[in-house]
Amino acid sequence: MDFSAIWMSFLLTVVVAASGHFLYSGYRVRSRVNSLRKMGLQMPPWNWLTGHLTFFRAELANYPPNVLISVVMKDIAQKYFASTEMFYLDLWPMLPPTLWVGNAAASIEVNKRLNTKPEVYKGLFQPMTGGPSLLDTNGQEWKYWRGLMSPGFAPGYVMSKASEFIDSGDVFCEVLEKRAREGDVFQLEVVSMRFTLESIIKIALNLDLGHQRKVHPVPKALLAIMPWTTVGNPFEKLHPIRPFIVAHYNRIINYHMVPELEKCYAEYMANPSSKASQSIFTLALAAHSKNFPDKAPKGKNQKVDRTFMDIALFQIRMLLIAGHDTTTSILVYAYHILHKHPEAMARMREEHTRVFGPDLSQTSSILRKKSSTLNNTPYTLGVIKETMRMFPPGGAFRAGSADVHLLDRNGTQYPTGGCHVSVAHHTIHYSPNVYSDPEIFKPERWLDSGVENGGWRPFERGPRNCMGQDVAMLQLKVVLVLTARKFNITPAYEEWDELEVTKRSSGRNWSIANWIGGKKRFEKRDVNGDRAYQAENGGARPALGYPCRVELINQ
Ligand code: HEM
Repeated sequence: MDFSAIWMSFLLTVVVAASGHFLYSGYRVRSRVNSLRKMGLQMPPWNWLTGHLTFFRAELANYPPNVLISVVMKDIAQKYFASTEMFYLDLWPMLPPTLWVGNAAASIEVNKRLNTKPEVYKGLFQPMTGGPSLLDTNGQEWKYWRGLMSPGFAPGYVMSKASEFIDSGDVFCEVLEKRAREGDVFQLEVVSMRFTLESIIKIALNLDLGHQRKVHPVPKALLAIMPWTTVGNPFEKLHPIRPFIVAHYNRIINYHMVPELEKCYAEYMANPSSKASQSIFTLALAAHSKNFPDKAPKGKNQKVDRTFMDIALFQIRMLLIAGHDTTTSILVYAYHILHKHPEAMARMREEHTRVFGPDLSQTSSILRKKSSTLNNTPYTLGVIKETMRMFPPGGAFRAGSADVHLLDRNGTQYPTGGCHVSVAHHTIHYSPNVYSDPEIFKPERWLDSGVENGGWRPFERGPRNCMGQDVAMLQLKVVLVLTARKFNITPAYEEWDELEVTKRSSGRNWSIANWIGGKKRFEKRDVNGDRAYQAENGGARPALGYPCRVELINQ
């Protein structure tokens, strides 16, 4: 046999084996869903060949191509499954079959009994983090690193970094002032993201990248990787240039980050007990050294445990990923919803004047002197919580388990074995069983009464809840207090359309929503009349980055 014949038969074997594996996996998934269907459990119309893809395609036809899938799921849940707040969806091969949980009580059960992140998370996050991190690990590995990093998220430590956030907040105001003077339309998401990235790196590594004034290569490379890692399209992984792009940006990130980590380490070694050089990284290193005294660096010139350093780098990258996109989108949506509700904006501004006095130039120095003053702003907190209720940027996927069944509103049991479980934040946050008038923005609902247990979950709950929630809350309060009385921010989607950037800035989008649902969707530009709908682009982002104008308020 000549070489080409050997090559051909090898190729044929690979194709046959891959097709066989694909068909067998498909058969197993569909059999599982069929058995659930036969049990009479809630799901849309299903068939062996396409599962729920046909149904889903028809639903998606009503939305723009890059809409956030959780938004669509909320509408599906309200339209067809309001009485159960629970249903299965079989979108294989796009996604594994999933039990969508829109019921607050059942979601608490998920927190108690299902805390394993599914395999798909590795493919989603590791290209961005460079390796395993808290976002996609389980068991002892996850537990060890969560323990190491928790001192860096303790409320006391986070509060001790308030002045760093205030510094970044002041720069953010400068940036907005400049934009106001220039008078052009710009994407609020872009400038807000620079603020969040800059301040996260400050608490993670005690390092000021100056990213708001001059774009730094690390955040730039991280953002460039993100659109190549959207979950939901199995063919994305096969894109021929994807591995090169990811490797290219990884090299850039490591090139800049490794020396910074080494520097941070050297500073720590020079004075391990110094509060000034504390960061999430050095606190984790101190905890690791306590756990493994034999590996702990003993002298100034001793190298740190290499494995620790490698994983620490993944974790720091993970913090940037987990923290910037989420906080940014809440900040932008807070401005958006306050623009739509001037009465709420007026009430929030009054609160700021009452607490910080009428002289705006004093706000940041008052905050610096006593950051706990932020605790005297309950209405601002209500605005933030209500924004998070209406525009939750996250959600939770968990691997199901044969011994865990979840109850729907009527007490019917739903097996989770062989499925993923999704705690659907949008669905729960808009449930009329949890909130009165869930479609209405009401910050005051947070002033007097709480909500049903498990009904507010933007940071998720249970052992795998968000580590950075105090960080996010502090960032958001600082920025709102510094900016709300200074600026008016007005969306400018129509002007952006006229500039003809709308089309270009839609960019590359490989999400499942984009892939199916029909060409007509590309003409759609809003969801329920809102141009600033939540879009999927490696995260939950306001569509088109929220084009807006900003003006300085005459004081
Ligand atoms: C408004 C802002 C934020 C929101 C809404 C948010 C939301 C979430 C959610 C829903 C999860 C759980 C994900 C899952 O279960 O799959 C999570 C996990 C996490 N978040 Fe956040 N997050 C925010 C900001 C931050 C910030 C600023 C940081 C760090 C600087 C951070 C660090 C983390 C980490 C480390 C985890 C993983 C925890 C674990 O699995 O042990 N987050 N976040």
